[in-house]
Amino acid sequence: MQTLSELLNQHRSIRSYKPDAIAPELIEAVAADAVAGASSSGNLNSVSIVLTRDVERKRRLYALHAEQEMVLQAPLVVTLCADWWRTRSWLKARGARDNFNNLIGYHVAAFDAIILAQNLALGFEARGLGICYMGTTLHAMRGIAELLELPETCLPVTSLVVGYAAEDPPKRDRLPLTALLHDEVYRHPDAAGLDAIYAERERKGWERYMAVPRLRALIEEHGIRSLAEFYTSRVKYDPEQFRADSAELRRLLQDKQFLQD
Ligand SMILES: Cc1cc2nc3c(=O)[nH]c(=O)nc-3n(C[C@H](O)[C@H](O)[C@H](O)COP(=O)(O)O)c2cc1C
Repeated sequence: MQTLSELLNQHRSIRSYKPDAIAPELIEAVAADAVAGASSSGNLNSVSIVLTRDVERKRRLYALHAEQEMVLQAPLVVTLCADWWRTRSWLKARGARDNFNNLIGYHVAAFDAIILAQNLALGFEARGLGICYMGTTLHAMRGIAELLELPETCLPVTSLVVGYAAEDPPKRDRLPLTALLHDEVYRHPDAAGLDAIYAERERKGWERYMAVPRLRALIEEHGIRSLAEFYTSRVKYDPEQFRADSAELRRLLQDKQFLQD
């Protein structure tokens, strides 16, 4: 039996999967543990978990997730939704006021969903499965909501692909703990401190991306000179796409009745 510390330190995102199906009982057991162990704002449990195993529906999710191959490969995609719909319906049925259709309400439900997502991730990993988060969820919220037939005030906030790993990637490092951990008050690094925090990340990250011929070609084509530039380039996190998708998120929160003014 591995300790929690061992489990956490063994984590790696898995992006290549065997086709082997996951036993439904295993999925249910992981979900039950994850829900039981997830703190929840007001214990309102304003969250829904949608499982996608159907090949055709996964193919449509694959298109929505920027054609990330692992969506097709992994036998299971789990979509975590910020969900006030069930709570709202209950409030309405009891004649109570509806307090949650606002930006705070959205965040409250989204945090519940993220906490649950990480519990699910750990639960699957503890049972020998691999996972990878899908950040593309945030760029395709409307399409995913339609595909999964989500009601009003229910939106996907993140997704996990889950399955048996077909790769054994190296462990990825993090920025030094001293950079993230503050004692009592925020410690502002000076320029030299900032250099020290990012030195290894810049070296390793640059080497890693440049070792992929397709990425190296794009980096050269776009005149990208550093890891920092790479991260905010059109190749990695396209600033125009982020701006457009942020505007779309505002519209979607309105259309889905999270924001009613
Ligand atoms: C919210 C979130 C979204 C992510 N989205 C993607 C994604 O769309 N595609 C992908 O390949 N990895 C994705 N990842 C995985 C990260 O790239 C990965 O966690 C990070 O590089 C650290 O690697 P590790 O998880 O192996 O330690 C995402 C991670 C998080 C937390």
